[in-house]
Parts: sequence; C-alpha cells; structure tokens
Amino acid sequence: MTLVLSGRELARQIEEELAVEAARLKNSGVPPALAVILVGEDPGSHVYVANKIKTCQRLGIRSVDHKLPADTTQKELETLVEMLNMDPAIHGVLCQMPLPSGLDGQRIIRMINPAKDVDCFHPYNVGLLAMGHPAFLPCTPAGIVEMLVRGHIEVAGRHAVVLGRSNIVGRPMSILLSAKGMDATVTVCHSRSKDLAAITRQADILIAAIGQPLFVTADMVREGAVVVDVGMNRIPDPTRPSGTRLAGDVDFDNVAPKCHAITPVPGGVGLMTIAMLMKNTLAAAERSLAQAN
Ligand code: GUN
Repeated sequence: MTLVLSGRELARQIEEELAVEAARLKNSGVPPALAVILVGEDPGSHVYVANKIKTCQRLGIRSVDHKLPADTTQKELETLVEMLNMDPAIHGVLCQMPLPSGLDGQRIIRMINPAKDVDCFHPYNVGLLAMGHPAFLPCTPAGIVEMLVRGHIEVAGRHAVVLGRSNIVGRPMSILLSAKGMDATVTVCHSRSKDLAAITRQADILIAAIGQPLFVTADMVREGAVVVDVGMNRIPDPTRPSGTRLAGDVDFDNVAPKCHAITPVPGGVGLMTIAMLMKNTLAAAERSLAQAN
C-alpha cells in the first residue's frame, strides 16, 4: 500500500499550532502582519496570493495587500518596498514572483529587509541557510521537510535526488536535505543532466521540482521510493468546466503504485508552502517583540 502524504491534513495541524502563536503575539501587543505585493495580472500568481491572504485571515495574521498594475515602474515598486521595510507594524514582506517583464525581481529581492524576508530569498538569508545558521527557512523546502518528518520518512543517510535547481525550490531544498540534522546524501540534477532516469532511479527520496507536467514517469522511480511532487502546472483538460486542471511534475497514476510514499497535486506540497510562510511571519513578529523588550 502506498502512503499518500496529504498536505491538507498536515497543514491543518500546523495551522492550529500557528493560530495559538498568532493569538499570543497579538495579546503581547504585537499583532503579526504580512505585506503581500502582487504586480500584474498573471492568473496563477493571483491564485497563490489569494490563498496566502486567506490563510493569514484564518490564523489571525493581518495581511496587507498591495495589488499593483502591470505597468508599475521599478521606482514605484522600490518605493513601496522601502516603505514596508521601515514600517514597524509589518513583520513580513513578500513580493510574488515572477514580476512582469521590465521589472527587476532580483533587485527587489535584495531590497527587502532581511529581517522581514519571510520567503528566505534575500542573499543574506540564503547565505545563512547555506552556512547552517538559517534565520528563516525557505517555504517550499521547509514544507517538504515537515511532510517528511511528520510522515515518519527516514531521511538521514539516504540518497535524496532533487530534480530542478531553481532558487525557490531545488537549490535551497538540496541545502536543507544535506544540512546537519537532516543528513541526506543529495544529488541535484536538472533538464541538462545526462541520463536523468539513471540518476532519479537511484533516489530513496525523489523531489520533483522541474516545472514540467507529468515529467517523472514510472521508469524513472525505484520501487519503494518516496516521491515528493512540487509541480504546479496547469494543463488542458476538456472534461473540466474550466478546460484545465492542475498537474504535478509526476505522473501520479503510474508512479504511485511503485512508491512507499508520494505527495499528491493538488493537496500536497503547495499547502505546506503557505503554512511555512505563516510560520516565518510569526517568527519575524516574535523577533520584533523580543527586540522591543
Ligand atoms: N513564486 C512562486 N513561488 C513563490 C514563493 O514561494 N514566493 C514568492 N514570493 N513568489 C513565488
């Protein structure tokens, strides 16, 4: 029997824990607050941001929502970030990526006050993570670690293969899994790797974060592996009223029967990412309370 690791149930548990922490901070005079910047009309980004804001509301975290038109200038965006950086009532600042073409996302990432960088995208925070002294954990990789730990998946000493090398998932995932305490042996591979299937077949734990729908097929997975699907791809589906559906990077139907455990899409990693964003926001608020006392 394959274990399906549900992000829904785990995220609900974590949210319960975080709501208690949010209430405690509020009662201590620091109502936790997350600023969310969304530029342009990308439908996927609008859905992600709406889910982040809804989760804030459920947990008792104040969300301050800045939706800006696609023709926003770099200067306007930077002025907003500066204002949020300086506002003591804001603990987390998040700018949804990617930005519309013409805007420099890397400059924005570097501008966000590292103490409010709840995405853990700033080079300072990525550096601390790489050195083994993180101030924040990157949300998607941290959510995956929570799923593995709470799902009682053994990681130490095992071979984890990370498929994808993005700054948001693949690279920080490889850092977290190889860190002291997690102790996996990690291979990072990507679209340019030679004989990918031969590499992924060596995985005890396979993290699929390549951004291509149904990319990981049954022949790429070893019997008894743990497969984590980070993919969020919209593909055509004429049987749905919308004409599309969400598909992961893994061909779930054919891969799942081979696995010890697997995460579904939707209802898997995505929900955990948001839970970890909330956790980081509360950590930032907690630090601002500690500094005030
Ligand atoms: N775009 C895709 N994932 C993320 C994320 O976790 N944070 C931000 N800011 N943008 C994203």
